[in-house]
Amino acid sequence: MAKILAITNQKGGVGKTTTSVNLAASLAATKRRVLLVELDPQGNATMGSGVDKMGLARTVYHVLLEQVDIGEVRAAAPAGKYDLVPANRELAGAEVELVDLPYREKRLKNALAALAEDYEYVLIDCPPALNLLTINGLCAADAVMIPMQCEYYALEGLTDLVQTIKRVRSNLNPRLEIDGLLRTMFDPRNALAQQVSEQLQRHFGDKVYRTVIPRNVRLAEAPSFGLPVLYHDKGSKGAQAYLALAGEMLRRAPG
Ligand SMILES: Nc1ncnc2c1ncn2[C@@H]1O[C@H](COP(=O)(O)OP(=O)(O)OP(=O)(O)O)[C@@H](O)[C@H]1O
Ligand SMILES: [Mg+2]
Repeated sequence: MAKILAITNQKGGVGKTTTSVNLAASLAATKRRVLLVELDPQGNATMGSGVDKMGLARTVYHVLLEQVDIGEVRAAAPAGKYDLVPANRELAGAEVELVDLPYREKRLKNALAALAEDYEYVLIDCPPALNLLTINGLCAADAVMIPMQCEYYALEGLTDLVQTIKRVRSNLNPRLEIDGLLRTMFDPRNALAQQVSEQLQRHFGDKVYRTVIPRNVRLAEAPSFGLPVLYHDKGSKGAQAYLALAGEMLRRAPG
């Protein structure tokens, strides 16, 4: 059975997509069977995986509206050794169109049930909002990975996210856990970043991954080539950090 991880933070630009794409590629590089599902109308994980989001007839949008089976939408990512369920801006309509439909929060969960045997890891890249798309991600997941920048407002946003996770756990998905908090774009020379990082560790203890993702220009430029950083510059600090994160996850949950 696949371990299903929602990569979530309602704050924008914290590294959700960078983490989704590069963790998918890193887990796949260790021979794990990995599926990446994009739940963001921005389509960044799709583009970053080497798929042109504009040219797609079928995406996760059609899966959520039950117009097509997820198996027909999933395809091998050209740039990594993982599979992708892509998204593009059409997905923005799903929010409104799902509202009056039955089991609207569990559409992704139900769709993924058909594929659970095919993968060891399913990663879900969520949009920067606590909306129905993100709720679909949280309902489908076993656990949440929370990428965050160690800056002043980060902890405030975390309170809302933890509340949402608790609400989903009591109403929709009792097995949902926090897998961990991931410090992204980290600059060890920044005193505030150090402080926030220490605060995080005090509050969340071993829920904070030991691996830290440094700020690294290779990570930022890889998507413009439609590549995970592993295939752009394997020796870069960014590539090594995501390989280390994959290693940390595998050690925590061998399999
Ligand atoms: N470790 C890093 N070092 C340098 N740049 C990074 C790093 N992580 C992410 N970035 C850059 O920061 C920007 C935001 O990252 P990303 O798109 O992964 O965040 P996001 O949380 O998915 O954003 P959104 O909320 O819009 O979906 C991107 O331009 C990305 O290339
Ligand atoms: Mg994103």
